[in-house]
This record gives sequence, structure tokens and C-alpha cells, in this order.
Amino acid sequence: MNKKVLIRTYGCQMNEYDSELITGILTTAGYGVVTDPMDADIVMLNTCAVRENANRRVYGKIHDIRHKHPGRPVIGILGCIATNLKNKLLEDKHLKIDFIAGPDSYKRLPEIIQQACKTHNKIADITFSKIETYEDIVPERVEGVNAWVAVMRGCDNFCTFCVVPYTRGRERSRSVKNILNEVKQIAREGFPQVTLLGQNVNSYHDNSRDFADLLAEASKIEAIKRIRFMSPHPKDFSNKLIDVIANNPKVCKHIHLPLQSGNTRVLALMNRTYTKKGFLDLVDRIREACPDVVLTTDIIVGFPTETDNEFNDTVDVLKKIEFDSAFIFKYSQREGTIAAKKYPDDVPEEKKTARTVLLNELMQQTALKKNQAMISQTCEILIEREGNNRSENGWAGRTNGNKLVLIPDGDYKISQLVNVKITEATPHLLRGIPKS
Ligand code: 5AD
Ligand code: SF4
Repeated sequence: MNKKVLIRTYGCQMNEYDSELITGILTTAGYGVVTDPMDADIVMLNTCAVRENANRRVYGKIHDIRHKHPGRPVIGILGCIATNLKNKLLEDKHLKIDFIAGPDSYKRLPEIIQQACKTHNKIADITFSKIETYEDIVPERVEGVNAWVAVMRGCDNFCTFCVVPYTRGRERSRSVKNILNEVKQIAREGFPQVTLLGQNVNSYHDNSRDFADLLAEASKIEAIKRIRFMSPHPKDFSNKLIDVIANNPKVCKHIHLPLQSGNTRVLALMNRTYTKKGFLDLVDRIREACPDVVLTTDIIVGFPTETDNEFNDTVDVLKKIEFDSAFIFKYSQREGTIAAKKYPDDVPEEKKTARTVLLNELMQQTALKKNQAMISQTCEILIEREGNNRSENGWAGRTNGNKLVLIPDGDYKISQLVNVKITEATPHLLRGIPKS
């Protein structure tokens, strides 16, 4: 009988996509993929190492699986955490992990799993490839409105706080032709939306063709209604890219633009390669071309040596730009990074907490103001699901700018585009009524 595998995914969208690739690889190799741990012979956790609490969560999950599972499933760890923690994971006597496989080793998984089941030897494959892009793998996608497509993998930026260049290796892009074939297939499968993914998505290139060209080409595929992308780096935001976002109706007017810090000295220590002024100028350029763009960001507070005054620059930039929303992270020292080697983690935890609270409060106000400004406007939403988080009746969809909108019950279906008049706003969502 075919062995059954359960894959649990944590972390970013790239991990979600990778799990779809892994599912494709394993089902082709004859494995059954299940969702209930009780049915699984093999359990794999595809995890993230970017922020520390993700690591802790994995340790918790493994204990949980061991506790609940009646037999002893073979357990594997995949993703960034595998390359980041390597032997620490395998040698941990409590975890009892059987194999680890890094982001460039997924094609070898059928072989690795077979060996782990047969020999009960511990196996690790975390070698990096300069070329692996999984171009030839057909991902097995989760049904819904959105299909992820990784257009490039790895990262060469070496932001000093970040493990990704060490856990996912060097940057490499797929060919335009291969990506467009995948998007055409996605369209045939009925997904109305595609999200192009990359650790530094706008440094994508295929010979002379860049990310702006790729967006323009993808938008020509008829059945695709919306194209999103994640995450760009400010340093690679060309006017040509801004032009495509502003003028191509299928390219969504939402840019997740990680700021990290508003202070030029801290940005230099982070190796972000832009200044406070450079970032503000970029946002001016974007807004000039595309006034209704929705901007969101990531912030790290308490990077080593960040003073109160320097933190105030971040507050200043958030007040000036008025992002629609922001993820605020406390700096967490990650093993192997440049910051971990060069700078002691010297901002006290209480200061990190106080700075996080202050920014979250500021962002609540800004997000509410931004959302309230949409009241009475009419937006086109793409219906994503029935019901909403509080199990109220109705439907939930997203605007072109990626804002969640709840509408009352009615005769709709998933993937339908509906015009909605916004009637209510909170910092996190909008409510509206369909316009006939
Ligand atoms: N500590 C805190 N936040 C981090 N991020 C990446 N590395 C760290 C770290 N060491 C955040 C950044 C990035 C997001 C994906 O995670 O803000 O944009
Ligand atoms: Fe990490 Fe910087 Fe690369 Fe983003 S651009 S993945 S933060 S190194």
C-alpha cells in the first residue's frame, strides 16, 4: 500500500508554494497526501527560520505530533529551518527527527523518505543549488481564488538581520517562457488571480527582460483577472515597474514595500542600501503615478544600537507615508547572520516591546483613517470565501488593493467579481453592500 504523507506548512507564502511543489513531487512518486495526522506514515513540517518564534512553534508541533500519534511516524523537517539549524535538529534527542531537507532538495524527497523509512538512519540533505528553480515540477495547488508562482528563488541582498540568503541560497530566476506557461495552466484550472513570489521579486530577470516585462506579459493571459506580487525591495523599484503597476489594469494596486527602519544610520547597519529620504522619495514617485495605491510594510524595532531618537525616525516615516497596514517585528538575532556576528543584541526587551506597542497603536489609527476614507466609495471585490471569521453569514472578498471586505449573504460564488459600496470600516476590514 502507498505510504501516506502529511505536510504542515508554517511561515511565508514561498513556503506555501513550496509545499504545493512538494505535494506535486510526492504524489507523482506515488505517495498519498493526507491532512489528518492519524492517517500519516510520514509527517513533514515545512517551516520558517526568519523570526525566532517560528522555531519555537516547530518544537511545540513536533511534541504535539509525537504525543497524539498512535504509532511512530517518520518525521521530517523541511524549509529554511532545516538549513538554518541543520544538525542541531537531527541530534536533538527529544525531537527524534528522521530527516531534514532544505529548499533546494525537494526533488530528492521520495528517495530520502524511502531511505528514512527503510533504514531508520538519520538523513540530511541541505545542499544548495545555484540553478534549481523547480521549473519542471507541477505544483498541486490548494483550491481557491489565488495561485502562487515563485518566479525567482534565493536572495543575494544580505540584509544583516536576515537568514534567507543562508537558508535559501543564491538568487536565481526562472525563464519568462516557463513562468507564462505555468500562469496559462493556472488560468485553465480556473484561478482568477496569480501572485508572483520571490524573496526579492523585483530583481527578477531573464536576460534582458525584467520584472516589469514579466508583469506586462502575464497580464496578457486572458482568464487571469488579477496579478499580485510579493515582496519587492525598494532598491529595485524602477520607474518602469511603477509605470506597469499604475497603468496595467490587471496588476493590483497594492505594494508591500518593506521599510524595516526609518533611520538612515540603522538602514546602513541593516545593509538595506537606501536612506530615509530615498524611501520617502520612492513613495512619492509611486503615489504620483498611482495615487490610489495601497501601501503596506514590514518594520523591525530594536535593531542593535537603535536609539530612541533613531526609532523616532521610523515613527516619523510611518506618519508621513501613512501605510495602510504594517507588520511590526522585534529584532531577533538569527544565527549565522552578519548582524549576529557584528552587533550585540543590545536593545533591552522592554524597549523593543514599548516600541512595538507604540507603532502598533499608531498603525491602528492610520489603518482606521485609511479605511474610513473608503466609506461611500464603490470597489470591485473578488469573492474569496463564504462566511467570515466570526461565522456570520455572508461573503468575504478583497479589493484590488487587497483590503478585506465583508458583504451580506446573497447569490454569489467564489471567484466572482462584485461591485460593492463600502459602508463601514474598522482598522482591519471593510463592510459593504453590493451595487446592482
Ligand atoms: N528579526 C526580526 N524580524 C525579521 N525579519 C526578517 N529577519 C528578522 C529578524 N532577524 C522580518 C523583516 C522582513 C520580514 C519577512 O521578517 O521585517 O521583511
Ligand atoms: Fe532577507 Fe533582505 Fe533578502 Fe528580504 S531582501 S530575503 S530581508 S536578505
